Amino acid sequence: MNTAILEKKASSTMLADVLEGLKKPQKTLSSKYFYDMRGSELFEEISDLDEYYLTRAELGIMEKHIHEITAALGERVQLVELGSGSSLKTRLLLNHLDDIHSYVPVDISADFLDEVAINLQKEYPDLNIEPVAADYTQPFDLPETPDDVTKIAYFPGSTIGNFTKQKAADFIGLIADLLGDEGGLLIGFDLIKDRQTLIDAYDDSEGVTADFNKNILIHLNRELEADFDVDQFEHKAVFNEEESRIEMHLVSLKEQSVFIDGNHIHFEKGETIHTENSHKYSLESFRELTGPYFNKVQTWMDEEGLFAIQYLR
Ligand code: AVI
Repeated sequence: MNTAILEKKASSTMLADVLEGLKKPQKTLSSKYFYDMRGSELFEEISDLDEYYLTRAELGIMEKHIHEITAALGERVQLVELGSGSSLKTRLLLNHLDDIHSYVPVDISADFLDEVAINLQKEYPDLNIEPVAADYTQPFDLPETPDDVTKIAYFPGSTIGNFTKQKAADFIGLIADLLGDEGGLLIGFDLIKDRQTLIDAYDDSEGVTADFNKNILIHLNRELEADFDVDQFEHKAVFNEEESRIEMHLVSLKEQSVFIDGNHIHFEKGETIHTENSHKYSLESFRELTGPYFNKVQTWMDEEGLFAIQYLR
């Protein structure tokens, strides 16, 4: 298929998905639509905010414990990064893993993967990089390896938190299958903490997270020729105690109508679009998720107990 046809197909899938979400009693949009070019830039800005402790805490843990972490992973590994992966954390691993067999970044965007692979190859000329373009939440195949190589999946950034509990459980099962009996999973997740710290991280004083949330509407306006009046929606972050998650919503500031490709969507004043879940775990609740698939666990945390990294086998 040529690029124009592929793009058309992608946007008709997006249209169907968006309309389905906006026709539900609780209107929803998938958080994957945050990440157009501007959304990715805004997420980078969020990562630098004082209030958004996650990125800093995770990198701090990696830096402090990198020798212990890479010793746990062992030698001759095929490092499979899910949702690649040109981050400082990846480089830390690559710099410290002895006799690494290969690095396999997995991402849905083939273009993005090419860019990552080309840049990384310049920095690590001897590294065997084998990109896989795939949706890692669905079954996919890894490049074959000799018997003495351990397959290790790396899933940093608390991205697991953006999955519902059911999707997270399915995903852990899928990865366990992919890795086989000898494999391991190195994963970062955000920990339950006081509510104000959590709210501040998702509703920062500079309004960057608000811009990030509203950018989803700008993305839909451009991609689907929708006519959201972005100023008539307000960012809201709430902690859902029962589900142990931060939810991001966009609140309609008035009764209004939006048209998306000829489809009429009505909003009451105060009605919300639920745009993201970010689940927070305790070591116990995370164990409930991984216990059925992995029996050995090593844990590293920062001193304040904000964030955790586990190596599961
Ligand atoms: C990508 N993900 C782990 C972020 C999170 O914290 O859930 C996305 C994010 N949403 C608002 N701020 C950051």
